[in-house]
Amino acid sequence: MKTKLSVNINKIATLRNARGGNYPDVIEFAKRAQDYGADGITIHPRPDERHIRYADALALRPVVHKEFNIEGNPIDKFIDLVLRVKPEQVTLVPDDPNQLTSDHGWDTWQHQNFLKEIIKVFKNAGIRTSIFVDPDLKMIEGAVKTGIDRIELYTESYAAEYAKGNKSVVDQFAKAADLAHQLGLGINAGHDLNLQNIAYFKEKVPHLDEVSIGHALVVESLIYGMENVIRMYQQKLQ
Ligand code: PXP
Repeated sequence: MKTKLSVNINKIATLRNARGGNYPDVIEFAKRAQDYGADGITIHPRPDERHIRYADALALRPVVHKEFNIEGNPIDKFIDLVLRVKPEQVTLVPDDPNQLTSDHGWDTWQHQNFLKEIIKVFKNAGIRTSIFVDPDLKMIEGAVKTGIDRIELYTESYAAEYAKGNKSVVDQFAKAADLAHQLGLGINAGHDLNLQNIAYFKEKVPHLDEVSIGHALVVESLIYGMENVIRMYQQKLQ
């Protein structure tokens, strides 16, 4: 089974925002990512718009011809945006406005009714729904009760342990994916996945529909692209 790669372009927006202009242009990068083989584009608009902006989400819709995934905390402003943009998928994430990045999944028992209501709204609009969860079997049992289509497994702990040589942490993710599949859910995964740790995750975790990758993919693009670009500059400076 092929796992889809959704490229998170928030970091491109962060780079753009650092200079105040429109360079790099996120629209151009979304087009290139798709041309180069990405199966989808992910964005994570936050209320302070410090990375991708709400206006970017609207501008991206016509150019994202593969799967568009919008993730974020379902506050009213976010729900309105998603309903206007109508991406193929929305991923609900319980992040605080002040959090540097997402750092935990939903408590699908404590927030079950809240999630159920929101998921219904998105499903009625024809948008596939996913929620960010830790690889915790109890949370997956709770997730299925919300009416969700998919879960996104929060992979930070896998990435951190893998980097230390503790590969066995993947078992927890494989069990979570197995249970989610048995319960009829699709399985996404993301956070801190990279070229080093992705193959083992893919090999060990069954039924993986999609991964979304941002931070490492941008860094690796710099690493693997830099040599070429420096050569191009040096040629012009002969
Ligand atoms: N999934 C969610 C819910 C996220 O918040 C993020 C980071 O914005 C990612 C996936 C992608 O993580 P990374 O940038 O580390 O690849």
